[in-house]
Amino acid sequence: MAKTIGFGILGSGLIAPFHARAVRDAHGGRLVAVCDLARERADKLAAEFKIKAYYRLEDMLQDPAIDVVNVALPNHLHREAVLQCAAAGKHVLTEKPPAMSLQDTDDMIAACRQAGVKFGCMVQCRVRRAIQAMKQAVDSGRFGRLLHADAIMKWYRSTEYYRSDAWRMSRPSGAGVTVQHAFHYIDLLQYLAGPARAVHARMTNLAHPSIALEDSLLAFIDFSRGAQGVVEASTALWPGTDVRIELHGENGCAIMAGEKMATWKFRDERPEDAEIRTYGSAAQATGAGGAADLGHADHAVVIQDMIDAINEDREVIIPVTTVRHTLEIVLAMYQSATRGQPVALPVADEANALQQPCPS
Ligand SMILES: NC(=O)c1ccc[n+]([C@@H]2O[C@H](COP(=O)([O-])OP(=O)(O)OC[C@H]3O[C@@H](n4cnc5c(N)ncnc54)[C@H](O)[C@@H]3O)[C@@H](O)[C@H]2O)c1
Repeated sequence: MAKTIGFGILGSGLIAPFHARAVRDAHGGRLVAVCDLARERADKLAAEFKIKAYYRLEDMLQDPAIDVVNVALPNHLHREAVLQCAAAGKHVLTEKPPAMSLQDTDDMIAACRQAGVKFGCMVQCRVRRAIQAMKQAVDSGRFGRLLHADAIMKWYRSTEYYRSDAWRMSRPSGAGVTVQHAFHYIDLLQYLAGPARAVHARMTNLAHPSIALEDSLLAFIDFSRGAQGVVEASTALWPGTDVRIELHGENGCAIMAGEKMATWKFRDERPEDAEIRTYGSAAQATGAGGAADLGHADHAVVIQDMIDAINEDREVIIPVTTVRHTLEIVLAMYQSATRGQPVALPVADEANALQQPCPS
């Protein structure tokens, strides 16, 4: 009989309630506890979901009712937490990006592998039906030669959002539109059209002059399988519009807007295409206007998969190993923007590319 899987959420900030709601909605999962150094944050979430509050990860890891820890800490803190969870024999679902360096990512992958625990990453946009339909069409060759794979993310975040916490203003901690917001959509491009073999990026600060970060990214990506692509990503563009993911091949074109399939057209029209055109709901909140402008339905799919993967003793739907390349592309973009030149992949970690840029 399937075991009920206990979840503990590490970090009780902005994204934590989305994990909590997603666990609550899942079948076979139980939300056990939340942990935050900031007691009042842990207590608030614990009261809302009627769960335990811990204030130190070491204490939460001793709770035998917890099988999985959802790591929802600022990006530069993921590594230490994941290593501790693995050492305690807990499965891990980390928020994106997995870490701020490839070395840290590899350390976490190795620790989880050695401990025999699952290690998934919350790049939840991958599970959208529109994206899954695109993936299937790419993998089955329906596009023919893929020519273009583009991500357009014209979002808005206020200066107050950046000022709300020190880590949100620190590039080495994982702030800035490239690694923090565009990560999801760069991930989709590499998932659908990757791997990438070169990038050329330009980063600017258009609308947050008091914050020393890029709020806008323009990048070209060359993919190893032949497609080219652009990423236009910004948190400077009020009021924020729906993200677009576009795939163009010699035999077809698919565009997701928000989470909705906006265009699905192939030279060989098939009976199932009519239904695919209905995928996604315009009502789903996808983060364009503010940090809390999100639904938790995609998180719920990833969490349900973790429960099922543990019970079925199989790999999770989004192993961190498959997200490492997204981080590599992002790091290559920082290197390219810093040097003002294209950068070929693979790349190694380069600390100076992540140094804090000057305010514009
Ligand atoms: N998947 C998504 O769509 C999505 C959306 C937003 C954020 N995120 C990711 O979620 C993660 C958290 O982001 P956030 O916006 O919720 O951050 P946040 O700053 O709002 O919350 C982080 C919390 O961690 C706590 N914390 C810090 N160090 C701690 C420690 N050592 N032990 C316990 N608690 C500690 C802080 O007190 C804070 O409450 C990041 O990796 C971010 O990239 C993902």
